[in-house]
Amino acid sequence: MCLKEITNKIRSMSLEEKIGQLNQAGLWDFELLCEEVRKGRVGSVILADSATAGNDEQQRVIIDQLNELQRIAVEESPSHIPLIFGRDIIHGYRTVLPVPLAAAASFNPDVVEKAYRAVAYEAANDGVHWTFSPMIDISRDPRWGRCIEGFGEDPYLTSKMGQSVIRGFQNADNKKGDSIAACAKHYLGYGAVEGGRDYGKAEISEYTLRNYYLKPFKAAIEADVATVMNSFSEISGQPVVSSRYLLHDLLKDELGFRGFVISDWAAVAQLVTQGVAKDRKEAAALSANAELDMDMVDGCYIDYLSGLVAEGKVSEETIDKMVYRVLYIKEKFGLFEHPFITRQKIDYQEHLELSKQCSDEVITLLKNKDVLPLDRSKKIALLGPFLHEKRSLLGSWTWDFDIRMVKSIAEVFEEYAGRELLVFPQSNYLWDDIIPALGDVDTVILALGESYRVSGENNCLANIDLPKEQLELAKRIKGLGKKVIGVFCFGRPIGLGEADIYFDAILYAWQAGTCAARSIVDIIYGKVNPSGKLPITFPRSTGQIPIYYNYHTMPRNGMGYYGEGSNYLDCCSTPMYPFGYGMSYTKFAYSEARCEKTALTLEELKNGKKFKVGVTVTNTGEYDGKETVQCYVRDLLATMARPVRELKGFSKILLKRGEFKEVVFELGSEELGFYNGKGEFCVEPGEFDIFIGGDCTTNNKIKITAVSETEN
Ligand code: BGC
Repeated sequence: MCLKEITNKIRSMSLEEKIGQLNQAGLWDFELLCEEVRKGRVGSVILADSATAGNDEQQRVIIDQLNELQRIAVEESPSHIPLIFGRDIIHGYRTVLPVPLAAAASFNPDVVEKAYRAVAYEAANDGVHWTFSPMIDISRDPRWGRCIEGFGEDPYLTSKMGQSVIRGFQNADNKKGDSIAACAKHYLGYGAVEGGRDYGKAEISEYTLRNYYLKPFKAAIEADVATVMNSFSEISGQPVVSSRYLLHDLLKDELGFRGFVISDWAAVAQLVTQGVAKDRKEAAALSANAELDMDMVDGCYIDYLSGLVAEGKVSEETIDKMVYRVLYIKEKFGLFEHPFITRQKIDYQEHLELSKQCSDEVITLLKNKDVLPLDRSKKIALLGPFLHEKRSLLGSWTWDFDIRMVKSIAEVFEEYAGRELLVFPQSNYLWDDIIPALGDVDTVILALGESYRVSGENNCLANIDLPKEQLELAKRIKGLGKKVIGVFCFGRPIGLGEADIYFDAILYAWQAGTCAARSIVDIIYGKVNPSGKLPITFPRSTGQIPIYYNYHTMPRNGMGYYGEGSNYLDCCSTPMYPFGYGMSYTKFAYSEARCEKTALTLEELKNGKKFKVGVTVTNTGEYDGKETVQCYVRDLLATMARPVRELKGFSKILLKRGEFKEVVFELGSEELGFYNGKGEFCVEPGEFDIFIGGDCTTNNKIKITAVSETEN
């Protein structure tokens, strides 16, 4: 169907049928749903059973049900328009990938894109047309449980990872039903909820909104994301779900988004709870007039929009615009041509390998006092609450997995190591048993972590420190004089300030999906060299939050990095582990940063000229390894206070032992400019420090200058 045909189709539809296209229903009562579809009162069905689906078990997709609903829609409903089936395919289907925050630690958008392609294929094969992913909310607060679903604290990294996920989901042959429509969520500022409490209020200035929270959405639109989901939150008193400025003027008019906006779960009706609509009818009017296109599950649109049109409170023209967007996406993803599921055979082995490549690259080595890779001749013991765990290695928002594909850390170790291994059972071991058994053991591997229900939607913590009983375990083992290697399987950063000293090595394994345990053991034995880098700052303690690297200078403490120098009385201001940090088994030496031409005029920059800033990186250690070379910018003098550093480029390179490579970053207006507080993008004349190194604390820098016409 061409675009003109969509317009004609809309003309031929009754108002009731049009409103039906804006209604997303649940699958709770199949018979009733069939009836509603038959009447043309449903445009989409969500395949989730509960409001916080990520935390609960969900019914599996039943293909026959979907085909029957679709048959009714295309054969019996008045307009014969196919349904679009949506399900939260957040980071895996049968094959589970690392949780998104971990995926960002790979700093490898290509690997991530390929793996998401595989996941899209698996979901499409079961009849899913549309996923509510990626979550591209910036999060500077690890208390917020949903930081697990995003790509961390940095807008540039989040933009790149979000784009790779969108491409992975969407960029196969849409018409063949091999891809699924993506959804950039939760627009806007959801990650800024105060105190890290889910659904809370956010206070965001225009300056911060445009320079941080909006950027990943701009990037998602550039990657042609099909849909956008609103945030539950209010920004400075304005609920996003009823903001015409955010949903229409900024998103559609200014950023050029062409797909449709779906509300988050029952978010339209929640305007009543938020106290800005007196009832569901008024809520429907507010959201429709903001041009929020589709209403998820609360029925406000289907119940009230036609009455609101009759009363002149919502125009039919607005409804037509919303319907157009929905049909445009249905057309784009081939639903009119191929409404039914055609199943294909899937090579799960290939998908497992893609998942393994991801988990290999996300696991982050935070500390290593010469204990890793592990010497196979040493006697080791395995202990800890995550040793035999499988489910929680997959993280939140996973239900479609096949647990038979997952191995525990203990199982993989047993395959590898043989008799010098002492594996403690899962439950009820007592110190009286442990202490004598550890007699001649050299190194203890402690598998620690949090349940998949601890990080995720509405799972927020007031204290993110390592749980007390796990800290106690580490302390007591260290007290026996053993070397302790901690394997940390958490969805979010934790405060390691107190715990750090009890570990000789810290391998932050996140919740890395189906192949997590295989990657962990490969890294411990040195078969894989770790290459993850932190996408979010690790505080020492919860009290330091919010703590993020792209901070401004403190007026009384000059250049202070992470606000360094301006300490708390009971804690310094620097983090435990900074953004971009992660160790390798090898060593990388950086040449001084260099730049061919260190001055360009503003005019040249405006015309697309760029600074080419580069370094040579050499692998000077004993192993082949991957390094993420990172490029940060600091604007030294501007009309607004600017961050001490901002990531503007990264490149993950493989260097064999002794090998070197040159890495060049191109920096132009986009990288050097910023949005002033009035919503205008500007590149100001003056000097910039460009830093290139292995994490955000690097001091390897070169100065470049943007010259104003008058100086020239
Ligand atoms: C979450 C969304 C999710 C939706 C559907 C909501 O509670 O906030 O991220 O996509 O439910 O499951």
